[in-house]
Amino acid sequence: MGQLVLAAKVTHVPSLMLSETNASPLRDARAAAVQSLRELGRRARVREVSTFVVFDTHWLSNFGYHINANARHRGSFTSPEAPHMIQDLRYDLPGDTALAEAIAAEADKASLKVLAHQVPTLGLEYGTIVPMHYLNPDGWAKVVSIASPLFTSLEESRTLGEATRRAIEKSGKNVAIIASGSLSHRLWPNKNLGPDAWTSIASEFNRQVDLRVLQLWQERRYREFIAMLPDYAVKCNGEAGMADTIMLFAALGWDSFDGEAEQLCDYFPSSGSGQINVEFHVNR
Ligand SMILES: [Fe+2]
Repeated sequence: MGQLVLAAKVTHVPSLMLSETNASPLRDARAAAVQSLRELGRRARVREVSTFVVFDTHWLSNFGYHINANARHRGSFTSPEAPHMIQDLRYDLPGDTALAEAIAAEADKASLKVLAHQVPTLGLEYGTIVPMHYLNPDGWAKVVSIASPLFTSLEESRTLGEATRRAIEKSGKNVAIIASGSLSHRLWPNKNLGPDAWTSIASEFNRQVDLRVLQLWQERRYREFIAMLPDYAVKCNGEAGMADTIMLFAALGWDSFDGEAEQLCDYFPSSGSGQINVEFHVNR
């Protein structure tokens, strides 16, 4: 038997790593988020996690569902969308081919086509690299990265999340699921991309809905959250359609999940979007 021992919704904004550079004006603004990501990594270590499964909203797919099943993730990453923010970032992390293929096989049993790839030149995106920088420095645990398709449905992403949970429970391993993505995700238009953009929200409507979502989570009103999730993803500009959140809740048990949502840092804006780190406690 394997088990899901940690589940979290986390931020991956590049400003986290930029804040670590000397004399960065973002150091204070990102300190709590950085500290809470490190705390999640500490908890994962204590719970003897062998593999992090990351639902990555920056690995966008136009052509269906994909899993990076490489035995080793090694490379130097420059973000194609933000080369001024993330440049030549080296990573070297072990992969978990067996779990990646098991997730794809479980999805296949549920009639969802998911491709698990072993291609050495298939690198990681920063939705995986940034959280792993804090949770999994030096690669003490294995990593499976799962893409977010753009042309799909909530139902299909739910199927993959459920398949992931089944594969974990058959794996014989302690596994963590990391949903890597924003809450709301309207970004500032180009003309507003000044220094203030790092720390301000682009839509007060989005901020208010994000805060309501966090309140619902605090009160464990997950049934109501799931009911609003399709509208939330569209009306609050969900990153990759909030595929990471859909897959996370599917893995947790969808609207029957009743565990504690532990908010690990204050809600914060970044480039107009809404960001948070929350652990969803699973019964172990
Ligand atoms: Fe993002």
